[in-house]
Amino acid sequence: MAANPKNIHTEQSEVTAKRKGEHIRICLEEQVQAEGIRTGLDKLRFRHCALPELALDNISLESEFLGKKLGAPLLVSSMTGGTEEAGEINRRLAEAAQEHGWAIGLGSMRAAIENEALAPTFKIRSYAPDVPVIANLGAVQLNYGYGIEECRAAVELAEADGLVLHLNSMQEVFQAEGDTDFGGLLRKIEQVCRSLDVPVGIKEVGWGIDGDTAQALASAGVAFIDAAGAGGTSWSQVEKYRSSDPMKRLAAEAFADWGISTADCIEDIRAKAPDAFVIASGGLTHGVDAAKALALGAHLAGFGRVLLPGAAARAEADGSWEEALHDQFRRIAFELRAAMFGIGAGSIAELRHTSRLIR
Ligand SMILES: Cc1cc2nc3c(=O)[nH]c(=O)nc-3n(C[C@H](O)[C@H](O)[C@H](O)COP(=O)(O)O)c2cc1C
Repeated sequence: MAANPKNIHTEQSEVTAKRKGEHIRICLEEQVQAEGIRTGLDKLRFRHCALPELALDNISLESEFLGKKLGAPLLVSSMTGGTEEAGEINRRLAEAAQEHGWAIGLGSMRAAIENEALAPTFKIRSYAPDVPVIANLGAVQLNYGYGIEECRAAVELAEADGLVLHLNSMQEVFQAEGDTDFGGLLRKIEQVCRSLDVPVGIKEVGWGIDGDTAQALASAGVAFIDAAGAGGTSWSQVEKYRSSDPMKRLAAEAFADWGISTADCIEDIRAKAPDAFVIASGGLTHGVDAAKALALGAHLAGFGRVLLPGAAARAEADGSWEEALHDQFRRIAFELRAAMFGIGAGSIAELRHTSRLIR
């Protein structure tokens, strides 16, 4: 009997959705932190200013991204969608992003492209009407049947202000179902940038983007570059826990320290692609990390796994998780503001040009 393409489609979407569920569980329960490499932000310090000559309350964190105003130059990194649980996480993150004025990225929307029944898990616009929402797809899918149409569909579905294509070569290597043909992608990315009505960005997923790659991407028309450097969540570690292949599990361990640290990415990208709009992410845990990344010249700072609600919080009655999330958003912005006070920077522009960062 001939295969029914619709069934293949549904089967594929089930695989994709199952993977998303496993990613959340593994990220919450297993040791997925990169080992032997840190963000590099920990090595940087600010030279304290005893006389800041400004009032804490007058410090402005206001910023702009994708044509929208932000309460702070902060971003919820692309994480999830595609399962009921993931949809709930997206909605809570979106509400918090809206309230605190952060930008928010969605996880890969492939599951919804493959099965429109999963689309609601990515529909966060009504929860975050005023902040930038970023649609997400894997860049490598451009080599596996995806094109402009799917990119447009993702943007429309999310009513997004922009699309980010993620580069995750090393994750695909360790996935049993991995798509590992990354040949000729730059040209295809360029076509997507040219064809879409919204800005198109590129992000890594935790191994970083170097300056030369950033320069090539910027020349191809990429509107923003999210370094997603090493020192935080390691996707070879995550896939190690999903793999049933003993060889790949062992091999994944050899990559626990792979990648370019987040701080090195920002410095290199700023040097080689000075006009690029740069997002610093990968292993950021607090507002002082964000302040250091911005002082290195990044325009926004992104937070991923640390924003995921712990299993215990989710198991508890409604409300507590939401409160914990809001507290975390508030704390990160407070730490950023306090760090700016500590060096006498009254605005994000002043922070980005401070001479008080000690390398
Ligand atoms: C549970 C989870 C799922 C993720 N899924 C995606 C995804 O679908 N698309 C993507 O571009 N990045 C994805 N990421 C990667 C993050 O956007 C981020 O680049 C990476 O986790 C490094 O940042 P962190 O160290 O702050 O977690 C995911 C991260 C987590 C924790």
